Amino acid sequence: MVQYDMDDFLYSNYLVDYSKKRNLEDLFCAYQSPAQRNTYINDPGLAALYMITRGRSIMGVIEKIISQYLDVFDDVGSVVDFGGGPGTFLFALSKFKMVNSYINVERSDAFIGIMNVLVEEFLSSSTPHTHVDSISCNYLKLEPQDIPTNDLCVFSYTFCECDNSLVGLASLVENSNMVLIIEPGTPSGFNNIIQARDKLIEKGFSIIAPCTASNGFCPLRNSGSDWCHFVERIDRSRVQRHLKNGVLGYEYEKYSYLLMSKYPVHTVGKRIISRPNYTKHSVSFDICSEKSSHIIVTKRENKDKFKIVKKSIRGDLYREDQSKT
Ligand SMILES: C[S@@+](CC[C@H](N)C(=O)[O-])C[C@H]1O[C@@H](n2cnc3c(N)ncnc32)[C@H](O)[C@@H]1O
Repeated sequence: MVQYDMDDFLYSNYLVDYSKKRNLEDLFCAYQSPAQRNTYINDPGLAALYMITRGRSIMGVIEKIISQYLDVFDDVGSVVDFGGGPGTFLFALSKFKMVNSYINVERSDAFIGIMNVLVEEFLSSSTPHTHVDSISCNYLKLEPQDIPTNDLCVFSYTFCECDNSLVGLASLVENSNMVLIIEPGTPSGFNNIIQARDKLIEKGFSIIAPCTASNGFCPLRNSGSDWCHFVERIDRSRVQRHLKNGVLGYEYEKYSYLLMSKYPVHTVGKRIISRPNYTKHSVSFDICSEKSSHIIVTKRENKDKFKIVKKSIRGDLYREDQSKT
């Protein structure tokens, strides 16, 4: 499936008269501070707009995360997506693999409707076939026995717009082997991630990514000026450029995330958590570590290592015995 096809399909089926322009402006305004504004989407046109203008950027982020952990996602056969919206996670994942079962636990029937239309149009002939289902409800009201056992549960950009979202987390993940949380790459998104992380560690989950410091330490937890986030450059489609009045053919999406497993995890290397500072003769950056977190690699000390490390960007893994990042 090519994403541009999906954008064209949504545009010509739901938005061609462009009467929702005002709604789009309201939606963007609401997403600037989702916790304080009404982001509830209850109209198919608006749900289609969301998928083109926000869902596509989020898909780019999800694809980036999956591509870094292909071996982890390889083992995933069943997914429960809390607040899955138009099925953003499913469509991103389908670029890599088809799972056996995907369940969207979503309060907006407009989103569920759009997801079903898109699944029929773009995934129905994919093999192996994914059984796609939805539970139309407020997920905070679910009990563990209402949630099917799953390999992975997902919270993608949902905590940021759901009051008390973290309250029920421990019981919502009860039947999951892994949890993926993605939030906007803002101080508030990071704060949600840190709180979720505490709850999941308490529940016995281990961190797959992005944290690489030992014993649950977080070097950015109490930093007044920085927070753990990454940046992905996302290409814009023609329809997106049109809807967003955008001139550029790309945009940058900042995000924070957390991938955890019920089972013990072995990590190799340390995550680069700042934008590397490059000079002709050195590169320096911060890593996610419990000690000596500022690394400087100079050309003079180790030419080969410098050659490799100078290509690193925020989010890559750095290894002492650096042979590749
Ligand atoms: C910003 S959208 C994200 C949608 C999708 N996960 C994505 O990444 O594109 C937030 C979604 O969470 C849903 N949501 C928020 N709180 C919810 C709740 N308590 N129960 C069910 N759905 C919820 C909203 O309806 C919306 O679809």
